[in-house]
Amino acid sequence: MNYTELVDKLRDTRNLTDEEFKALLETDEADAYLTQEADKVRRSIYGTDIYMRGLIEFTNYCKNNCYYCGIRRDNRNVERYRLDEETILNCANEGYKLGFRTIVLQGGEDPYYTDERLCSIIRKIKESHPDIAITLSVGEKEHDSYQAYFDAGADRYLLRHETADCEHYSKLHPSELTAEHRQKCLYDLKSIGFAVGAGIMIGSPYQTTEHIIKDLRFMQDLKPEMIGIGPFLSHKDTPFRDKENGSFELTIRLLAVLRLMFPYCLLPATTALGTINPLGREYGFKAGANVIMPNLSPTEIRKLYMLYDNKICTGDESAHCVNCIGRRAASVGYNVVISRGDPKKEE
Ligand code: 5AD
Ligand code: FES
Repeated sequence: MNYTELVDKLRDTRNLTDEEFKALLETDEADAYLTQEADKVRRSIYGTDIYMRGLIEFTNYCKNNCYYCGIRRDNRNVERYRLDEETILNCANEGYKLGFRTIVLQGGEDPYYTDERLCSIIRKIKESHPDIAITLSVGEKEHDSYQAYFDAGADRYLLRHETADCEHYSKLHPSELTAEHRQKCLYDLKSIGFAVGAGIMIGSPYQTTEHIIKDLRFMQDLKPEMIGIGPFLSHKDTPFRDKENGSFELTIRLLAVLRLMFPYCLLPATTALGTINPLGREYGFKAGANVIMPNLSPTEIRKLYMLYDNKICTGDESAHCVNCIGRRAASVGYNVVISRGDPKKEE
């Protein structure tokens, strides 16, 4: 099969054999046709709409020690912060005024935010703005905690699986963290009724094409509503400081592959993609991405939420990013819409 036929097969059946995926992921020859077909599929379902999510990075305390992450427990060079409930609610209100109808509460795994505190924040945001969707991204918890967040009004949950391969997982994380538990969390979240987001870093240390194919298979089984991918970017104060960054081209290629495999999924053009290439998010849109998550955190603390070096937008006001994103989307033919941007379902 030539590359055009491979892309056609992927588009028409939403699947390939492992060998075919490997061929497609390891060449740049199909890229032009692949992204073109991904964009067509995205337009047929989501038109030219881009959904905006307001990201509030509410704590950079983390009890975990992932080797790649800048806010890992052992990084003594980070000034740690927590936003109190009132500050978080103010950010959400400001976001609402700017047109956001999804708020993402993201943080390190910080035991200070007990289920009770988190549920109170969720309930209060929902009380003030019943038409807002709340997405949580606060890591691995037990089933009952997830259930409590859901009952309090949370709608969606982001938890990248990072890699579906247990051995690869153990090269990215200390032994107290396992791929198995992470995957269990995702299935728990699904069964509770959350729209879930899985995902990986592209070009994380020791990653092979075979690992990525395993990730695709895992996601075929999980059927996440959202898939977050971005290039791995090294951080100077982590054990992976000297590791090479992930590839921009491969990230774009995977966005397109994911759009063809999961036509209905919500696929963000991530901040990491905009960091590795100044026009990365625009290329992401053109390859099938339909979500963007500008930062809504107070400007003073943005520089303290550095998962990787050189993160963009850490000096900007939220309103500035909203305008910037609007212009960037329009420059490549898409438009940012004010809506909850729920995942569409197949008829
Ligand atoms: N480079 C790119 N992405 C990273 N993440 C964490 N650290 C890095 C890094 N150094 C991603 C992880 C995590 C998400 C919140 O950010 O995939 O799940
Ligand atoms: Fe923040 Fe462009 S998105 S400045």
